[in-house]
Amino acid sequence: MSPLPKYQEIYRRFRLAIDQGQLGPGDRVPSVRSLALELNVARGTVEAAYQLLVSEGFFEARGQAGTVIAGALPQVPVKPQPAVPSTAPGPRPLQMGLPALDAFPRKLWARLVTQQVRRTDADSLAMGDVRGALALRVAIANYLALYRGVECTPQQVFVCAGYAGCLTLLCDALQMTGQRCWFEDPGYLHARRLLVHQGVELVPVPVDGEGLEVERGMQRDRQARLAIVTPAHQSPLGVALSPARRQALLEWAREQGSWVVEDDYDSEFRYRGQPLAALKSQDVGDRVIYAGSFSKMLFPGLRLGYWVVPVSLVEAFGCSAERLQQRSAQLLQLTAADFLEQGHFTRHLKKMRQLYAQRRGLLVEALEVHCSGFLRVDEQAGGVNLLARLLVSVPDHVVAEAADRAGLAVHALSGWMLEPGREQGVVMGFTNVVTARDAADLAMVLHRVIAQCLSVASITTA
Ligand SMILES: Cc1ncc(COP(=O)(O)O)c(C=O)c1O
Repeated sequence: MSPLPKYQEIYRRFRLAIDQGQLGPGDRVPSVRSLALELNVARGTVEAAYQLLVSEGFFEARGQAGTVIAGALPQVPVKPQPAVPSTAPGPRPLQMGLPALDAFPRKLWARLVTQQVRRTDADSLAMGDVRGALALRVAIANYLALYRGVECTPQQVFVCAGYAGCLTLLCDALQMTGQRCWFEDPGYLHARRLLVHQGVELVPVPVDGEGLEVERGMQRDRQARLAIVTPAHQSPLGVALSPARRQALLEWAREQGSWVVEDDYDSEFRYRGQPLAALKSQDVGDRVIYAGSFSKMLFPGLRLGYWVVPVSLVEAFGCSAERLQQRSAQLLQLTAADFLEQGHFTRHLKKMRQLYAQRRGLLVEALEVHCSGFLRVDEQAGGVNLLARLLVSVPDHVVAEAADRAGLAVHALSGWMLEPGREQGVVMGFTNVVTARDAADLAMVLHRVIAQCLSVASITTA
């Protein structure tokens, strides 16, 4: 209950609406009678608030014409506002992890959303299944069987609010608090933060040209309960997990009764050859929990990801989903299901594969021209990010911070490492680099940034 008398509370609500610009000069305010009825208070209470606002010059009573916000509002000193960090900044140049936002078929999507809205019936207004809309789970199972070689039933599919939502569900279902988990080093920063927040003990396992070093994982902690891997394109190095390592990882999980999370977040984007088979498609022991996300394949604002869990885990995941009650919006789930089932999804991916190969080429070429001597781009056959090794002796986080000040959203590779120091480089997204001119401009900014970092380093070490 508010500690303020009722009339003061009403007074404050109007003051706030005026301060924030929701009510401005000349706007009519409700009559005393209707507001009293609306708020279920005595008319005298509203009258007292209105009188105070009139006496301070915020309201003007105009007799029969009612009460309005005064034309010349009194000047009130502006209270300094605490700085609120922005949690959802818009896309920035070279921002990682984004699909090409200009190339998404927005009109088609809008049409599908509209069709879904028209189909709204009483059932679709209800809460919906905690495991996700059945239509989407069926569409996902069909898609995975055809394109990723993953055989599953819709009962094994759990739709969540992106990969982040998936991990929260997993931690609850496997009771991961205090448990140990192999984590690729370097590895996906956001997953790392979330898992640490959930109380999971991360065991860093190095990554080389063949992906996760399974042998090192076993030396470090053979009995870990879980391993999280990005087999198609390791995040952020972009290498694929080799066939031998895949076998070793699956064998380890089978022998130990441990679980492997396959984060298959951008496997479809491979620019040379066919997309690699999903680890899940080779999982005869049923130890792989497969994660997919529509953030790269469609768009990240959709916040749709999903698990395919082994049959033996369906019950545990179902109970956790009931407990957590974290659903995604029905309308968007059903629209995504239509997008998949009507064939738009595979057509879109095909187009994006070509577009990304071209946009990656633009940025690689510009970096080679403008940043040679400073950066060397790693060979990568796929993904939506690009890794450039630093060829000069400036710490990568210094470069990333300076680039940030210059408006570029590149990341320092060392920031993605649990045991920093081994690798130095900058990671960036190329999917929204549209023209050769854009690519050249961005590369020139990066060149200037690194040159400045170098000259500062030479002064401070002189
Ligand atoms: C390695 C990795 N996994 C998963 C995801 C998908 O995350 P979300 O579905 O939460 O957007 C991303 C997105 O950037 C990623 O980079």
